[in-house]
Amino acid sequence: MTDTIIFATSNEGKMREIRMILADLGKKIVSLKEAGIQVDIEENGETFEENAIIKVKALRPYTDGIILADDSGLEVDYMDKQPGVHSARYMGEDTSYDIKNQAIIDQLDGVEGDARSARFVCVIAASLPDGTILTSRGTIEGQIAHKQAGEGGFGYDPIVYVPEFGCTTAQMTPEQKNEVSHRGKALRAMKEQLKEYF
Ligand code: IMP
Repeated sequence: MTDTIIFATSNEGKMREIRMILADLGKKIVSLKEAGIQVDIEENGETFEENAIIKVKALRPYTDGIILADDSGLEVDYMDKQPGVHSARYMGEDTSYDIKNQAIIDQLDGVEGDARSARFVCVIAASLPDGTILTSRGTIEGQIAHKQAGEGGFGYDPIVYVPEFGCTTAQMTPEQKNEVSHRGKALRAMKEQLKEYF
């Protein structure tokens, strides 16, 4: 098994978080850019698992090492778990999150308490050199806030209020968010599965 893991993202912020969490695996973790791979992957799965697996499989021709990929999004129960796997494309890829977030708040007008439940979901897929595919899933449960709050994070963070912390995920420090986030939990669960292979 090689000493390098390719993580299928070009997002530097995500890479920092991933390197921190997977540090004790003792492997070098490189982004697509660092691996010199340029590929357009169509994420047309209906679940987070399907999309994460589509990504690792698309990269298999480029390496015989370990490949990891993630897929994530926001599920709003009152909206039938939308935007879900369409979170990045919801209302158009170029629409600002200020507009997307306000649109979700507006759709929940008059909806109160537990009926505002929502969660961030992250699924990590791994493709191992022997052809094995592994997946792990992490979530953080919250409620859609009545108004946007917080400057941290990105995307839908300003509208996901986490009752346990009394704030939105945009109001958490990056360290706090890593500890409790869907991505942090899914990555730590994947790390435990990978350790069994090393
Ligand atoms: P992807 O997994 O990079 O394709 O991201 C999917 C989309 O889900 C992002 O573009 C955001 O809209 C949303 N999303 C995923 N994780 C988070 C998060 O931690 N905070 C806010 N939005 C998120």
